[in-house]
Amino acid sequence: MRTQVGIVGAGPAGLLLSHLLALRGIDSVVVEIRSRAYCEARQRAGVLEDGSVRLLREAGLGGRLDREGLEHGGIYLQFAGERRHLDFRDLTGGRTVTVYAQTEVVKDLIAQRLADGGSIEFEAPVTAVAGLDSGRPVLAYTATGGRRQELACDVIAGCDGFHGICRPAIPPGLLTVTERDYPYAWLGILAGVPPSTDELIYCHHSDGFALHSLRTPHLSKLYFQVGSDEKIEDWPDRRIWDTLQRRFALPGWELKEGPVLDKGITPMRSFVSAPMRYGRLFLAGDAAHIVPPTGAKGLNLALADVTILADALEAFLLRGDERPAEAYSATCLARVWRATHFSWWMTSMLHRTPGADPMEAALQLAQLRYVTISRAAATSLAENYVGYPPLR
Ligand code: FAD
Ligand code: PHB
Repeated sequence: MRTQVGIVGAGPAGLLLSHLLALRGIDSVVVEIRSRAYCEARQRAGVLEDGSVRLLREAGLGGRLDREGLEHGGIYLQFAGERRHLDFRDLTGGRTVTVYAQTEVVKDLIAQRLADGGSIEFEAPVTAVAGLDSGRPVLAYTATGGRRQELACDVIAGCDGFHGICRPAIPPGLLTVTERDYPYAWLGILAGVPPSTDELIYCHHSDGFALHSLRTPHLSKLYFQVGSDEKIEDWPDRRIWDTLQRRFALPGWELKEGPVLDKGITPMRSFVSAPMRYGRLFLAGDAAHIVPPTGAKGLNLALADVTILADALEAFLLRGDERPAEAYSATCLARVWRATHFSWWMTSMLHRTPGADPMEAALQLAQLRYVTISRAAATSLAENYVGYPPLR
């Protein structure tokens, strides 16, 4: 079997890349270890930058996104017993973000690829990528029924997330990894209750951070900081709601409760591996970099990477021009490092470090007051949140 681009992973990065390549007349096969149902149900991110929305729309994927996505013109920052609004439209010349869950982006992409006759192999673990420094790399996987398959490719795209096999396939010593683990995690729930807020609330509290996000007019998504060694079994629903009630408490405002439909704990990590290319292997999305979710950047970075990659592969495979492919890693990493800084900064401003001295909270509150009072500081937060630099 052969294809032009072998894509490992049917997350947002791999699926969008396959679609963007098809629009350019380039053939690809996506190989995914999990089932279609699993990929479509995996609870993750929820906020799209305006550039990501425009990109999906221009790629013909705007139908349900435009009908069901919730456009947000700002966020609330809650600290020291007050809730302050940041107005992104006013601060950034009309720019916004859209709340549309990653599950829905993935469903839309899978449906579009299959409707267009695209090839996605589900429940097919990729076991090896080889020949990366040759002109004819090979992707080996186990197809349904246990058959071993080899796919000869012109190029392989490693879109297989943080725990995938593509990044480790690059020979040792060629990658520079810069990383930081945070001494806390997020416990997240999807709740069957209408949101208690019109826009996201990022909440600083002496017990730790909390976030009220949304999914639909009937579904809320909430998160709060827990210790990095916490187990989800120790968090019955009552304990979760009691914690959320305490952190979000504000006179005159009520947090509505409902059934917990899904819950999980996510570790917090900053991780950048460079370069994002080795020979005929290109890494994209979480396979190359991870940010803590406080800035809502992970999904947006994955979409931005493959937009740049699709252009680079078009130049390389259709016109024999390798210059955009040579620039791919540096082009992506400029955006990745801006998002890495912003996500670290938001995280540090809003979370309580276990064992921190009183100076930490005092500095955080000074910074939170500054970003809600100074127009210059508020503009910096806003332009990073809606997406900097804007995606072409
Ligand atoms: P992924 O979505 O991880 O997709 C990789 C795909 O590759 C998966 O489908 C995987 O099954 C597949 N794969 C892996 N190994 C193989 C193999 N050997 N063979 C075949 N297939 C393979 N971001 C936010 O902005 N906000 C959030 O709240 C948020 N929450 C998150 C919670 C969790 C638990 C995680 C893990 C991430 C979260 N993120 C969040 C980050 C965001 O979801 C990711 O940045 C985004 O999913 C990246 O997309 P991707 O396509 O690069 O990787
Ligand atoms: C989400 O809705 O899942 C979400 C929103 C904002 C974040 C992180 C997650 O910063």
